[in-house]
Amino acid sequence: MKFFIDTADINEIKKAKELGILDGITTNPTLVSKIGRPYREVLTEVSGEVDGPVSAEVISVDYEGMIKEGRELAKIRDNINIKIPLIEDGLRAVKTLKSDGIKTNVTLCFNSVQALMAAKAGASFISPFVGRLDDVSEEGMDVVEEIRAIYDNYCFDTEIIVASIRNPLHIKIAALTGADIATIPFSVFRQIIKHPLTDVGLAKFIEDYKKIPK
Ligand code: G3P
Repeated sequence: MKFFIDTADINEIKKAKELGILDGITTNPTLVSKIGRPYREVLTEVSGEVDGPVSAEVISVDYEGMIKEGRELAKIRDNINIKIPLIEDGLRAVKTLKSDGIKTNVTLCFNSVQALMAAKAGASFISPFVGRLDDVSEEGMDVVEEIRAIYDNYCFDTEIIVASIRNPLHIKIAALTGADIATIPFSVFRQIIKHPLTDVGLAKFIEDYKKIPK
Protein backbone atom coordinates (compact mmCIF):
# COMPACT_ATOMS: atom_id res chain seq x y z
CA MET A 1 0.00 0.00 0.00
CA LYS A 2 1.30 3.45 -0.89
CA PHE A 3 1.37 6.22 1.70
CA PHE A 4 0.44 9.77 0.67
CA ILE A 5 0.34 12.70 3.06
CA ASP A 6 -2.87 14.74 3.17
CA THR A 7 -1.57 18.27 3.65
CA ALA A 8 -0.41 21.44 1.92
CA ASP A 9 2.07 22.20 4.71
CA ILE A 10 5.64 22.01 3.40
CA ASN A 11 7.08 21.37 6.88
CA GLU A 12 4.82 18.38 7.42
CA ILE A 13 5.74 17.07 3.97
CA LYS A 14 9.47 17.40 4.69
CA LYS A 15 9.10 15.55 8.01
CA ALA A 16 7.08 12.74 6.39
CA LYS A 17 9.72 12.52 3.64
CA GLU A 18 12.43 12.04 6.26
CA LEU A 19 10.69 8.82 7.30
CA GLY A 20 11.49 7.48 3.82
CA ILE A 21 8.01 6.10 3.19
CA LEU A 22 6.25 8.94 1.39
CA ASP A 23 4.83 8.10 -2.05
CA GLY A 24 2.72 11.18 -2.83
CA ILE A 25 0.61 14.10 -1.61
CA THR A 26 -3.06 15.05 -1.64
CA THR A 27 -4.30 18.59 -1.08
CA ASN A 28 -7.67 20.28 -1.16
CA PRO A 29 -8.83 23.93 -0.93
CA THR A 30 -9.37 23.64 2.84
CA LEU A 31 -5.81 22.40 3.40
CA VAL A 32 -4.32 25.11 1.14
CA SER A 33 -6.38 27.81 2.91
CA LYS A 34 -4.52 26.98 6.15
CA ILE A 35 -1.19 28.02 4.56
CA GLY A 36 -2.27 31.64 3.97
CA ARG A 37 -0.57 32.02 0.58
CA PRO A 38 -1.88 32.01 -3.04
CA TYR A 39 -3.31 28.68 -4.25
CA ARG A 40 -1.03 28.14 -7.26
CA GLU A 41 2.06 29.24 -5.31
CA VAL A 42 1.40 26.62 -2.60
CA LEU A 43 0.74 23.86 -5.15
CA THR A 44 3.94 24.72 -7.03
CA GLU A 45 5.97 24.49 -3.83
CA VAL A 46 4.34 21.28 -2.62
CA SER A 47 4.57 19.44 -5.94
CA GLY A 48 8.33 20.05 -6.05
CA GLU A 49 8.83 18.09 -2.84
CA VAL A 50 8.09 14.60 -4.21
CA ASP A 51 8.46 12.71 -7.48
CA GLY A 52 5.19 10.84 -6.87
CA PRO A 53 1.62 11.99 -7.54
CA VAL A 54 0.34 15.28 -6.11
CA SER A 55 -3.39 16.06 -6.21
CA ALA A 56 -4.47 19.64 -6.96
CA GLU A 57 -8.20 20.35 -6.77
CA VAL A 58 -10.28 22.47 -9.13
CA ILE A 59 -12.59 25.10 -7.65
CA SER A 60 -15.07 25.26 -10.57
CA VAL A 61 -18.16 23.08 -10.48
CA ASP A 62 -19.08 23.37 -14.18
CA TYR A 63 -17.56 21.28 -16.98
CA GLU A 64 -15.88 24.11 -18.91
CA GLY A 65 -14.45 25.65 -15.74
CA MET A 66 -13.06 22.35 -14.50
CA ILE A 67 -11.41 21.62 -17.86
CA LYS A 68 -9.84 25.09 -18.02
CA GLU A 69 -8.60 24.94 -14.42
CA GLY A 70 -7.48 21.32 -14.71
CA ARG A 71 -5.38 22.06 -17.80
CA GLU A 72 -3.79 25.06 -16.06
CA LEU A 73 -3.03 23.18 -12.82
CA ALA A 74 -1.56 20.25 -14.78
CA LYS A 75 1.03 22.62 -16.28
CA ILE A 76 2.53 23.29 -12.83
CA ARG A 77 4.51 20.04 -12.83
CA ASP A 78 4.39 16.57 -14.44
CA ASN A 79 3.45 14.84 -11.19
CA ILE A 80 0.23 16.84 -10.69
CA ASN A 81 -3.11 15.07 -11.00
CA ILE A 82 -6.39 16.97 -10.98
CA LYS A 83 -8.85 16.49 -8.16
CA ILE A 84 -12.39 16.61 -9.53
CA PRO A 85 -15.61 16.48 -7.47
CA LEU A 86 -17.87 13.48 -7.99
CA ILE A 87 -20.71 15.29 -9.79
CA GLU A 88 -22.08 14.95 -13.34
CA ASP A 89 -19.95 17.71 -14.84
CA GLY A 90 -16.99 16.29 -12.94
CA LEU A 91 -17.29 12.88 -14.59
CA ARG A 92 -17.49 14.54 -18.01
CA ALA A 93 -14.37 16.53 -17.14
CA VAL A 94 -12.53 13.34 -16.09
CA LYS A 95 -13.11 11.82 -19.54
CA THR A 96 -11.91 14.94 -21.35
CA LEU A 97 -8.84 15.41 -19.16
CA LYS A 98 -7.98 11.73 -19.66
CA SER A 99 -8.05 12.21 -23.42
CA ASP A 100 -5.63 15.14 -22.87
CA GLY A 101 -3.31 12.72 -21.02
CA ILE A 102 -4.03 14.36 -17.63
CA LYS A 103 -4.58 12.12 -14.59
CA THR A 104 -7.52 12.73 -12.26
CA ASN A 105 -8.41 11.99 -8.65
CA VAL A 106 -12.18 11.91 -8.21
CA THR A 107 -12.94 13.28 -4.78
CA LEU A 108 -15.87 13.49 -2.33
CA CYS A 109 -16.86 9.86 -2.99
CA PHE A 110 -19.26 8.46 -0.41
CA ASN A 111 -20.52 5.20 -1.93
CA SER A 112 -19.32 2.38 -4.15
CA VAL A 113 -21.66 3.08 -7.08
CA GLN A 114 -20.27 6.61 -7.29
CA ALA A 115 -16.83 4.97 -7.40
CA LEU A 116 -17.98 2.67 -10.22
CA MET A 117 -19.07 5.74 -12.21
CA ALA A 118 -15.70 7.43 -11.63
CA ALA A 119 -13.83 4.34 -12.84
CA LYS A 120 -16.01 4.10 -15.95
CA ALA A 121 -15.29 7.77 -16.68
CA GLY A 122 -11.57 6.93 -16.59
CA ALA A 123 -10.44 8.30 -13.21
CA SER A 124 -6.85 7.49 -12.28
CA PHE A 125 -7.72 7.65 -8.57
CA ILE A 126 -10.91 7.51 -6.48
CA SER A 127 -11.05 9.09 -3.01
CA PRO A 128 -13.68 7.64 -0.65
CA PHE A 129 -13.90 9.87 2.45
CA VAL A 130 -14.06 7.31 5.25
CA GLY A 131 -13.82 9.63 8.27
CA ARG A 132 -16.70 11.83 7.12
CA LEU A 133 -18.88 8.72 6.71
CA ASP A 134 -17.96 7.55 10.21
CA ASP A 135 -18.90 11.05 11.42
CA VAL A 136 -22.49 10.45 10.27
CA SER A 137 -22.67 6.91 11.72
CA GLU A 138 -21.95 5.06 8.46
CA GLU A 139 -19.03 2.61 8.21
CA GLY A 140 -16.59 4.40 5.93
CA MET A 141 -14.37 1.37 5.50
CA ASP A 142 -17.32 -0.74 4.26
CA VAL A 143 -17.42 1.54 1.23
CA VAL A 144 -13.72 0.89 0.58
CA GLU A 145 -14.31 -2.88 0.75
CA GLU A 146 -17.17 -2.60 -1.74
CA ILE A 147 -15.11 -0.47 -4.14
CA ARG A 148 -12.25 -2.98 -4.00
CA ALA A 149 -14.64 -5.84 -4.85
CA ILE A 150 -16.28 -3.93 -7.72
CA TYR A 151 -12.98 -2.77 -9.24
CA ASP A 152 -11.58 -6.30 -9.01
CA ASN A 153 -14.75 -7.80 -10.56
CA TYR A 154 -14.31 -5.66 -13.66
CA CYS A 155 -10.52 -5.16 -13.70
CA PHE A 156 -10.67 -1.37 -13.36
CA ASP A 157 -7.20 0.08 -12.84
CA THR A 158 -8.47 3.18 -10.97
CA GLU A 159 -6.45 3.31 -7.74
CA ILE A 160 -8.33 3.58 -4.44
CA ILE A 161 -7.08 6.38 -2.17
CA VAL A 162 -8.54 5.99 1.31
CA ALA A 163 -9.10 9.64 2.31
CA SER A 164 -10.45 11.52 5.33
CA ILE A 165 -8.41 9.19 7.53
CA ARG A 166 -8.82 9.92 11.24
CA ASN A 167 -6.92 7.13 13.03
CA PRO A 168 -4.56 4.12 12.70
CA LEU A 169 -7.45 1.66 12.49
CA HIS A 170 -8.50 3.20 9.17
CA ILE A 171 -5.02 2.44 7.82
CA LYS A 172 -5.01 -1.14 9.13
CA ILE A 173 -8.37 -1.91 7.52
CA ALA A 174 -7.33 -0.13 4.32
CA ALA A 175 -4.28 -2.40 4.08
CA LEU A 176 -6.27 -5.55 4.88
CA THR A 177 -8.87 -4.58 2.26
CA GLY A 178 -6.26 -4.08 -0.43
CA ALA A 179 -6.75 -0.34 -0.95
CA ASP A 180 -3.96 0.98 -3.16
CA ILE A 181 -3.19 4.14 -1.18
CA ALA A 182 -3.89 5.73 2.20
CA THR A 183 -3.64 9.51 2.32
CA ILE A 184 -2.71 10.26 5.88
CA PRO A 185 -2.77 13.47 7.94
CA PHE A 186 0.60 14.20 9.56
CA SER A 187 -0.78 13.66 13.07
CA VAL A 188 -1.83 10.10 12.14
CA PHE A 189 1.58 9.40 10.51
CA ARG A 190 3.05 9.88 14.00
CA GLN A 191 0.38 7.71 15.66
CA ILE A 192 0.91 4.68 13.42
CA ILE A 193 4.56 4.38 14.41
CA LYS A 194 4.06 4.49 18.16
CA HIS A 195 3.10 1.73 20.60
CA PRO A 196 3.44 2.09 24.40
CA LEU A 197 4.95 -1.40 24.72
CA THR A 198 7.67 -0.45 22.21
CA ASP A 199 8.63 2.52 24.42
CA VAL A 200 8.52 0.46 27.63
CA GLY A 201 10.54 -2.37 26.05
CA LEU A 202 13.16 0.00 24.69
CA ALA A 203 13.61 1.73 28.07
CA LYS A 204 14.13 -1.68 29.71
CA PHE A 205 16.73 -2.79 27.13
CA ILE A 206 18.68 0.45 27.64
CA GLU A 207 18.48 0.09 31.43
CA ASP A 208 19.59 -3.57 31.36
CA TYR A 209 22.48 -2.82 29.01
CA LYS A 210 23.95 -0.63 31.75
CA LYS A 211 24.14 -3.72 34.03
CA ILE A 212 26.43 -5.59 31.64
CA PRO A 213 30.05 -5.58 32.94
CA LYS A 214 32.32 -3.39 30.84
O1 G3P B 1 -8.24 14.39 1.07
C1 G3P B 1 -9.52 14.68 1.52
C2 G3P B 1 -9.55 14.56 2.98
O2 G3P B 1 -8.47 15.28 3.41
C3 G3P B 1 -10.69 15.07 3.77
O3 G3P B 1 -10.36 14.88 5.12
O4 G3P B 1 -10.52 15.20 7.54
O5 G3P B 1 -11.39 16.96 5.99
O6 G3P B 1 -12.60 14.79 6.24
P1 G3P B 1 -11.27 15.50 6.28
